[in-house]
Amino acid sequence: MKSLQFKLMTVSVGMFFIFSLSTMLQAQTAGAWNIPAKYKTLKNPVAVSKESVADGKDLYSKHCKSCHGTKGLGDGPKAATLDASCSDFSTKKFQAQTDGEIFFQISEGKGKMPAFKKNVPEDNGRWAVVNYIRTQAVK
Ligand code: HEC
Repeated sequence: MKSLQFKLMTVSVGMFFIFSLSTMLQAQTAGAWNIPAKYKTLKNPVAVSKESVADGKDLYSKHCKSCHGTKGLGDGPKAATLDASCSDFSTKKFQAQTDGEIFFQISEGKGKMPAFKKNVPEDNGRWAVVNYIRTQAVK
């Protein structure tokens, strides 16, 4: 009898661990971004210029517009098919992030947001996209 109780307890403790682990993993995909501190102060090596903004716009149209929309409002055609919000780049909250934080998000991705260090392998390309995203009007 005692050993049955022990087994049941072991099973329920095990289930509890699996349950908390899956909740933690879900929080990782759906919750806040886990941005390493060093990115907050990382300096954008690509100066804001007509050229870099135009480069960023080209890359954005090719890789980002389908989800994030022409104006970065998170309303691209693909956004409707995702069970996650694509965010709105024109909000004060979004624009209050540093260039480095946005660079991290673009490079590493999270959940349905792909990691672009593969498809846009040049760091400076991703920094140019940051410069372009900065041109979205702040609400
Ligand atoms: C397949 C659709 C998809 C594509 C393509 C995509 N994104 Fe995203 N993006 C998302 C989703 C979904 C999120 C929200 C992720 C989350 O919070 O779990 C996101 C989040 C972001 C964020 C963080 C927003 C915030 O509120 O802090 C940035 C920045 C971003 N994307 C930039 C880009 C850029 C730049 C590109 C192109 C190089 C791109 N994304 C391509 C779906 C996409």
